Amino acid sequence: MGGPISGTSGSEAVWWQNGTVYQVYPRSFQDTDGDGVGDLRGITARLDYLAWLGVDAVWISPFYRSPMADFGYDVADYCAVDPLFGTLEDFDALISEAHRRRLKVILDFVPNHSSIEHPWFAESRASREARKRDWYIWRDPAPDGGPPNNWLSNFGGPAWTQDPATGQYYYHAFLPEQPDLNWRNPDVRAAMHDALRFWLERGVDGFRVDVIWHLIKDEGFRDNPQNPAFQSHQAGINRFHQVYSCDRPEVLDVIAGMRTVLRAYGERVLIGEIYLPIERLMAYYGPGLTGADLPFNFQLIQTPWRADAVATLVAEYEAALPEGGWPNWVLGNHDQPRIAARVGEAQARVAAILLLTLRGTPTLYYGDEIGLGHVAVPPERAQDPWGRNEPGHGRDPERTPMQWEDAPNAGFTTGTPWLPLSADAERRNVDEMRDDSRSILTLYRRLLSLRRDHSALSIGEWRSLSLPPDLAAAVFAYERFAGGETLRILLNFGHRDWLVPLGAESAWTILLSTHPGRAGGRAEGNLQLHPDEGVILRPTDR
Ligand code: GLC
Repeated sequence: MGGPISGTSGSEAVWWQNGTVYQVYPRSFQDTDGDGVGDLRGITARLDYLAWLGVDAVWISPFYRSPMADFGYDVADYCAVDPLFGTLEDFDALISEAHRRRLKVILDFVPNHSSIEHPWFAESRASREARKRDWYIWRDPAPDGGPPNNWLSNFGGPAWTQDPATGQYYYHAFLPEQPDLNWRNPDVRAAMHDALRFWLERGVDGFRVDVIWHLIKDEGFRDNPQNPAFQSHQAGINRFHQVYSCDRPEVLDVIAGMRTVLRAYGERVLIGEIYLPIERLMAYYGPGLTGADLPFNFQLIQTPWRADAVATLVAEYEAALPEGGWPNWVLGNHDQPRIAARVGEAQARVAAILLLTLRGTPTLYYGDEIGLGHVAVPPERAQDPWGRNEPGHGRDPERTPMQWEDAPNAGFTTGTPWLPLSADAERRNVDEMRDDSRSILTLYRRLLSLRRDHSALSIGEWRSLSLPPDLAAAVFAYERFAGGETLRILLNFGHRDWLVPLGAESAWTILLSTHPGRAGGRAEGNLQLHPDEGVILRPTDR
């Protein structure tokens, strides 16, 4: 059994294929001015840490001028830094310091909607005849005076808000403060391409494009169909299948247009945020790979944490990739519960090995490398507007400050942090963990260094190994291979030990284990995997 041959050899692989991406949520990484919110200078100050950790690129969530209704995902000026985060000069310093350390810089581009405070929207809402009227999505009320169709906001409630100025409704897939732009309008495309060029000229290495599958809506604005499987614990948006409000075929043309802008600057990466099942996701590589370089693959976040389920997922994803399409994997981000909160601390280590040994570009979420879990945020400190609209869906617990040292606020700020730190911050921080051979931080760092040292791990092929059924329910086994080297990965998703047959062909050296005592050991015939243990093995001469 094996994955499809991708045809990418070491020498052909480009940085966004053989490298790793690290996501920084700028509000929460490092504050330098004491206002309790992180800033660009803070990121620059921590670049040495990222280089030490061993990642290759940093993706920074939005820091553009914004009234912060959705913490920067509501942009009021696509070509300016919000004063909360610093200045354009701070950004220029950040990028040159990053490049000096061979770190790439990826920005978060938010083209689907602007802030309600963007001057474009002010012009658009002024009158039905306004020059920029068609830059946003305006519709007459339904015959009963209500919203034009049944589309819902991802953050709860209707996706249409009536504007008293003209009596028409405007569409917003998220908050009313985030009106959707009309990407069918060529002037909108041109203006947004200019915004991309503004940052490309400053040296950025690529973009993660926010909700890219939303950019084009159904031309006829048809009602979305009911979802009969909807359950009341789900967010309201799930009442309907989002078939007309997003994932329209014409979006591929828009993405190809963006990519053309990027590629004029060389090997710049386009990462698309897309929450769709595997078969739909693949379309976003675009016809002839003209689409997103990396359509974000969120399947590990959405699949039950069981060895057999994950093994099936990886095989299906590999098999579904278009010819030449490069895979990618991610365990979490600023919108999803932390991996350690979801699977527990012991399994978070297994997850780290999985993320960094599957075939494809991994994206790490800041704080996962120190095992940050669910940080309780008392209701009076809640920040996320989604959580306020739809209790239980707030994203604050995965956005809490990075923890650097055993100091007030773990060294994140000298002021009052905008969100609380974890209760164990005095132990769970970079300083305490960096020299501890047993820490998850050390595990991440070793994994990142192994990836750099072994092209089998970064760009090699992947094949799964078959195990007897009882074992396969608990252990996921696979190999990565390139240029004559084969590495074997065994991951115990269970909480008991398992005897795993290694085959008679060779003896094995244990390159890395979640149980640090093991590293460097040898195995022959069988390997007794500890509960929650993951290992990376290399064949050795007997
Ligand atoms: C994306 C972002 C999320 C934001 C939303 C609206 O899903 O990741 O944080 O709230 O888009 O821009």
